[in-house]
Amino acid sequence: MPHYPSLFRFRSSRFIVVAMLSIMIGAAIPFSLGRAQDHEQERETSRLLAILFDSGRVVVGMNQELINDVSKGDKGFTPDVFETQLRAVFEQRTGISLSDSNGKIPAIARPLLDRLVDESKRTIAGYQTPINIPGIRYKGLIPATFGTETAARFSTWSGIYLRQIAPERFLRNKKNQPDKYETDVLKALAEQASTSGESRPNWDVTDSGKTLRLVLPLYYSKACLDCHGEPKGVRDISGYPREGGKEGELGGAISVKLPIK
Ligand code: HEC
Repeated sequence: MPHYPSLFRFRSSRFIVVAMLSIMIGAAIPFSLGRAQDHEQERETSRLLAILFDSGRVVVGMNQELINDVSKGDKGFTPDVFETQLRAVFEQRTGISLSDSNGKIPAIARPLLDRLVDESKRTIAGYQTPINIPGIRYKGLIPATFGTETAARFSTWSGIYLRQIAPERFLRNKKNQPDKYETDVLKALAEQASTSGESRPNWDVTDSGKTLRLVLPLYYSKACLDCHGEPKGVRDISGYPREGGKEGELGGAISVKLPIK
């Protein structure tokens, strides 16, 4: 007989159930209470960062036809025009103005949001020469390239992990490949999307309480399907083969990691 006879003595299933339940409840209660109260600032900060970041992508998407217009030289899509639209989209999605002074924006979020606006504008500024050239349709400025360039500079400055990811079936750029945690969340979100069309961000405390992770799902709208929809396999304007995505399908997500102070 091995060295753990005590385990075998309590083989009654009632004991095992009671023991398991107390372990589960003991583990669950402080965790769920902690989740709800302690990390409010970090949760809201990561949510607002993800939405602001995605709002920039949305604004680029809203102007995609203008950007691609071959008949026009000066498009008038300047960093300031972009910023006005960015602020409007953000406010519409969150109910919070970026210039809010009523405490709706957590203190730790303020400098991060300001910097993300600046970096977003810088990306648009960098594309002014190509987008104002007439006669060329694809200028390289699409939601994804805007996202990659903006997030890279923002993350270098802040040290905060901010990126766009996609499920395997829609993954175009390997640099946007989800990690293990993100893969699991994307799976769960895709199932939710097909049943309820839910679009709430998912968040967890990981790393023994040191890191808050948030994943904001992105669902395909009609505008996305020009490139990600049908006919599957046929190249879009950027040269990638279309994936055959459907409206409302989970096409990707914004992923944020924030250290918990
Ligand atoms: C003009 C074509 C075009 C449109 C419109 C477009 N995308 Fe993309 N998308 C791309 C390209 C090209 C990439 C890959 C860019 C790269 O190489 O990094 C991409 C990448 C992505 C990524 C990053 C993950 C990956 O696959 O590399 C996500 C997420 C994404 N697109 C979602 C969307 C959503 C949601 C919409 C609509 C709001 C949309 N896209 C609209 C062309 C497009």
